[in-house]
Amino acid sequence: MRLILVGLPGSGKSTVGRQLARRLDLPFVDSDHEIEQRIGCSISSFFEREGEPAFRDLEERVIAELVQRDGVLATGGGAVLRPANRQHVREGGYVIYLRSTPEDVWRRLRNDRKRPLLQVEDPLARLRSLYEQRDPLYRETAHFTLETGRPSVTTLVNRLVMQL
Ligand code: S3P
Repeated sequence: MRLILVGLPGSGKSTVGRQLARRLDLPFVDSDHEIEQRIGCSISSFFEREGEPAFRDLEERVIAELVQRDGVLATGGGAVLRPANRQHVREGGYVIYLRSTPEDVWRRLRNDRKRPLLQVEDPLARLRSLYEQRDPLYRETAHFTLETGRPSVTTLVNRLVMQL
């Protein structure tokens, strides 16, 4: 079985994905983590050094490869920006959109310094514009949307398991 999670940074793709994989006894892989293993540095330093287009090229190659493996895959929040990625994930498995509002994401990420796209003066405004741009793309890509809101990770995983 292949389950693929999409959604904004901080929507819980990695946390929910890891727990979902454990529940279903499937392997878990995170495309950002896989990219970091390959480049040997953090995504934020790669962004700084090589720029966003180089990161997106690499991300596209890695996702094309990872959708071939069985298990639960958490994708980077910007993966849906490329039509090729949208197609690969939709054809690769059952796609779940973890839908969080910008405010929910901000509550979870406000102390997180690892997200290069949020290293700006007004991160909440940035999240709102990412949401405006990407929410339609996440919806178009996903087979199922789960509103994350405030429930615990376990509750979200239970809801997903019932849906499968
Ligand atoms: C990005 C999200 C990040 C990572 C990169 C770009 C984005 O992944 O791929 O920093 O464009 O939203 P997470 O969604 O796991 O934070």
